[in-house]
Amino acid sequence: MREDIASLRNEYTQSSLDELSLLKNPFDQFEKWFEEVKRSAIPEPNAMVICTVNSNSQPSSRTVLLKDLSKKGFTFYTNYDSRKGKEIARNNSVSLLFPWLELERQVIVQGKAERISRSASEEYFHLRPKGSQISAHVSNQSERIINRIALESKLNLLKEEYKDKEVPLPDNWGGYLVIPYSIEFWQGCPNRLHDRIFYEWAGDSWNVGRLSP
Ligand SMILES: Cc1cc2nc3c(=O)[nH]c(=O)nc-3n(C[C@H](O)[C@H](O)[C@H](O)COP(=O)(O)O)c2cc1C
Repeated sequence: MREDIASLRNEYTQSSLDELSLLKNPFDQFEKWFEEVKRSAIPEPNAMVICTVNSNSQPSSRTVLLKDLSKKGFTFYTNYDSRKGKEIARNNSVSLLFPWLELERQVIVQGKAERISRSASEEYFHLRPKGSQISAHVSNQSERIINRIALESKLNLLKEEYKDKEVPLPDNWGGYLVIPYSIEFWQGCPNRLHDRIFYEWAGDSWNVGRLSP
């Protein structure tokens, strides 16, 4: 056994989560925690791990950035032809995980991913730095490439092409809205007796419950 790994252990003591202080709506609860995360030293507070599944039921995960939040759900942007995009096209059930470890917290969302409108994607796309807009055209995300030089020469060509022009939104780039049916808030507690409170959508309201740690 690797004892250096087996002995890595922290006691979680920062906070607790109880039914009395919990907000009725999970989006309000998420906002409350998110504000605390933004005020903390957590790098990339809006980073979340999204998990999708392929046609063999093989899950895959990767980090993306949350770019909008509303009472409808969680929005992120990506290439629709990427591995995740193709998997979502077949099966739009996804899970999101926010690993806010510095605050001894995680939030797990289960839901369905839906493409947002092209006009909404366009609006966000043009807020991005020009270099990022051009890179969205350069990268056929998730496809195998020969080397980095191929990317950089394409980048240089496109930089020249769009020097004095607006960069158009690529056809295969845009946002997904993840509409949750369950959201779990996890707060680390002493002796591994952590708090786990979940909200589940019951069609017209959210049911709240507690899970054993
Ligand atoms: C901090 C961080 C933020 C990221 N944000 C995004 C993002 O918002 N959208 C995106 O498509 N990829 C993002 N990526 C890259 C993805 O993790 C991933 O490599 C890429 O989307 C391809 O994934 P796929 O091949 O599974 O589709 C980010 C990676 C990191 C580490």
